[in-house]
Amino acid sequence: MDIKAILRQNRDFFNSFNRGLLLTELDGRIFWKNKEFDNYMEIAYMISENISKLKEGLGTFEYEGGRFEINKVPILFSDEKYLLFILDVSEIVDARSGHDSYMRSSGGKYTFDNLIGRSEVMQKLVEDAKKVAMTDSNIIIHGETGSGKEIIAQSIHYESSRRKGKFIAVNCSAVPENLMESIFFGSVKGVFSGAENKKGLFEIASGGTIFLDEINSMPMNLQAKLLRVIQEGTVRRIGGTEEVKIDSRIISAMNMNPFDEVDKGKVRNDLLYRLGVVFIKVPPLRERIDDIGPLAEYFIKMKSRKLGIGVKPVNKIVYQLFMNNDWEGNVRQLEHVIESAVVMARYSSEINAEHLPAYFLKTTTASKGSKNEIELVQDSLKHELETIEKNRIIFDLENSGGNMTAAAKTLGISRQNLYKKMKKYDIKVSEQNK
Ligand SMILES: Nc1ncnc2c1ncn2[C@@H]1O[C@H](COP(=O)(O)OP(=O)(O)OP(=O)(O)O)[C@@H](O)[C@H]1O
Ligand SMILES: [Mg+2]
Repeated sequence: MDIKAILRQNRDFFNSFNRGLLLTELDGRIFWKNKEFDNYMEIAYMISENISKLKEGLGTFEYEGGRFEINKVPILFSDEKYLLFILDVSEIVDARSGHDSYMRSSGGKYTFDNLIGRSEVMQKLVEDAKKVAMTDSNIIIHGETGSGKEIIAQSIHYESSRRKGKFIAVNCSAVPENLMESIFFGSVKGVFSGAENKKGLFEIASGGTIFLDEINSMPMNLQAKLLRVIQEGTVRRIGGTEEVKIDSRIISAMNMNPFDEVDKGKVRNDLLYRLGVVFIKVPPLRERIDDIGPLAEYFIKMKSRKLGIGVKPVNKIVYQLFMNNDWEGNVRQLEHVIESAVVMARYSSEINAEHLPAYFLKTTTASKGSKNEIELVQDSLKHELETIEKNRIIFDLENSGGNMTAAAKTLGISRQNLYKKMKKYDIKVSEQNK
């Protein structure tokens, strides 16, 4: 039997199969997985990394701090090259009782396979990133907050030959300055009070990838030390005498333009070119609106499953609002907006504008697009636009404690206009606030 051929012939069917199908090479390297597994990447990796134990039929695994039980027919088919696993993935997650640390939304593993990006810019980005993944070059990923820098960094790691090594992510702005050096480079017992014999992150990440997030907040003196480490390819623990060889690819990230950060004196020029052998700029979500639909769909599916409610469609006007928003918080913001909308739409058949969070409605209008687009808004949709406006007025009035002057100001309209709209929507505030 040629498993690969069977899968190829039935790809669509297998993708819609409501059980997880995972195809690995004999050594556990993931070859293919169906959509069901995309939401449970952690389990896919647990299987991949415990392949020899699984072949012996062991059913319970400790993996990255959690327990997985898979005693329900783990391996079904194998040929000379592949192992095919058929699993009820959702049941495995339920068995974890109360943990959700394996969900990809909370620190799961990301690969290019589950990175959503239909837009041309993202397709090109992924194509380039895959090429860079094959090399050992250091990479700087920059782009606005929430745009996906970390998941791209992870995807590069798991695409590279270092995938069996560790992916160590460290947020440079979160590490206390006085501990930074020992955390990065390690320490020798007794060299300062409380110091232990400890490996630094570069040693731990050796053979893998170290992800230096917010590199522009690393103090200058440490940047000089980092530069030395990169040049020499070795680290010396604080208080140590030995130079330890390290072999980790460095992927750095920042929210700012890297060259501006050099100009501002936040990043050393010489370090920038050591860290940024390759630069990857992640475009903000508003510049790749083709991704909004697929991302929204994906998050709806994921959040509904997490909350145990049925998956619902998003109506047209919501799409229009999504297309017109600036998404300053990018994909992360979209994820949060969807999560709250899924909860609010619990008892509705679809997600409509009423279910969107008020803060989101405040930053968006359905009419930001060109005139033609506005003209295209049909009458049935107009009603919803009015609902949005009404909700927004109520929201701002509540926020101002019913003070119309203040509310008009935050709404950006005249008090007179507000009064007119309140009349139209039958919104009342108590007499003394008028
Ligand atoms: N292309 C994508 N496909 C699926 N999920 C995505 C994608 N891009 C971002 N996300 C989701 O958005 C969230 C934010 O992504 P990520 O943490 O990588 O952003 P970031 O650029 O590192 O943000 P920050 O600058 O704030 O650290 C993640 O939880 C991830 O699930
Ligand atoms: Mg990040």
